Amino acid sequence: MRKLFFGLIAAGVMVAGSAHADAIADRKATMKGVGGAMGTLVRMVRGQADFDAQAALAAFTTMNNATTGFVDLFPEGTETGGKTTVSAKVWEDRAGFEAAVNKFAGDTAAAVAAAPADLDALKAAFGPVAGNCNACHEVYRIPQQ
Ligand code: HEC
Repeated sequence: MRKLFFGLIAAGVMVAGSAHADAIADRKATMKGVGGAMGTLVRMVRGQADFDAQAALAAFTTMNNATTGFVDLFPEGTETGGKTTVSAKVWEDRAGFEAAVNKFAGDTAAAVAAAPADLDALKAAFGPVAGNCNACHEVYRIPQQ
């Protein structure tokens, strides 16, 4: 009986633990996708890759999609673990974090709506979007080397 009881507790802890690990893995994977999209755009903006309207639109769309449900990937209890680089600020200033996500959602939506048709239009759409990365990371992510 006792063994069963502790077994059930252990199973419960494992389920809770893995749900949290999933949130961390999910938000890291989401951000990795954003990072990949950023790479595509940066190469075009710097002239290291030819302008490709379809690829640019896909990259902005990936970023915009990343904002959907993003704040839900930061439940209580995921401040540490799973190689997260998140800052405790996300929980200390939830409203500020949500505002930063909303701003990123708005700026990426504008870039998707603009659907840049040439390199100049891409550069104009890219600037406001790119500013979001450091603005959010500086506050809500622990400093990276
Ligand atoms: C609203 C906040 C916010 C915005 C905007 C944002 N990020 Fe992030 N990003 C985060 C947080 C928080 C993490 C840390 C997640 C973790 O480790 O749990 C992160 C992590 C990352 C990572 C590391 C992923 C990994 O594998 O651990 C990359 C790459 C990244 N962001 C790229 C970008 C780029 C590029 C942009 C801009 C186009 C951007 N992010 C915009 C909040 C944001």
